[in-house]
Amino acid sequence: MDRTESGQSVILVSESPEQTFRIGVKIGRILEVGDFLALTGELGTGKTAFVQGIARGLGVSENYAVVSPTFTLVNVYPGEALTLYHMDLYRLGGAADLLDAGFDEENFQEGVTAVEWAERIQDVMPEGAISLVFSYVDEFTRKIVISVRLESVRDRLKGVVF
Ligand SMILES: Nc1ncnc2c1ncn2[C@@H]1O[C@H](COP(=O)(O)OP(=O)(O)O)[C@@H](O)[C@H]1O
Ligand SMILES: [Mg+2]
Repeated sequence: MDRTESGQSVILVSESPEQTFRIGVKIGRILEVGDFLALTGELGTGKTAFVQGIARGLGVSENYAVVSPTFTLVNVYPGEALTLYHMDLYRLGGAADLLDAGFDEENFQEGVTAVEWAERIQDVMPEGAISLVFSYVDEFTRKIVISVRLESVRDRLKGVVF
């Protein structure tokens, strides 16, 4: 896997769906309550594959099929210590949908949130969000640009991706 770091961002090049999954697992293991993963990128670039890894890293049972929540606003997966809230805003309007799903409610904040098509909610993105931009390179290659604005969050990702 290729890796390039510059300032607040790191660029990973994944060469298989499994590699994308494993990046998710590694990040999932160090997540803390309130963490927010903002995933952007076209269809088929690996956002869901990555969230499947996040779920594994959080200790979500393999009995749960982690798929994009297309017909519900949010899929809820209980992990070992934290709950994963998985949203996909592809078909949805924007920030109002995030709030409709209860994002502002306390229970939602007690877990970790992963949002696909997060470009739709740019204006309400938490300051501490971990931004992941996925893009297609070729059949089995995807570029993942990870950026974090908050130093405290970046510190936790040190040795994982930074
Ligand atoms: N390096 C890679 N990382 C992730 N997915 C890949 C990769 N190479 C090929 N793929 C394929 O791309 C598709 C990604 O699908 P998915 O994770 O559902 O994307 P998204 O959620 O962004 O629409 C899958 O069919 C997967 O097998
Ligand atoms: Mg998806």
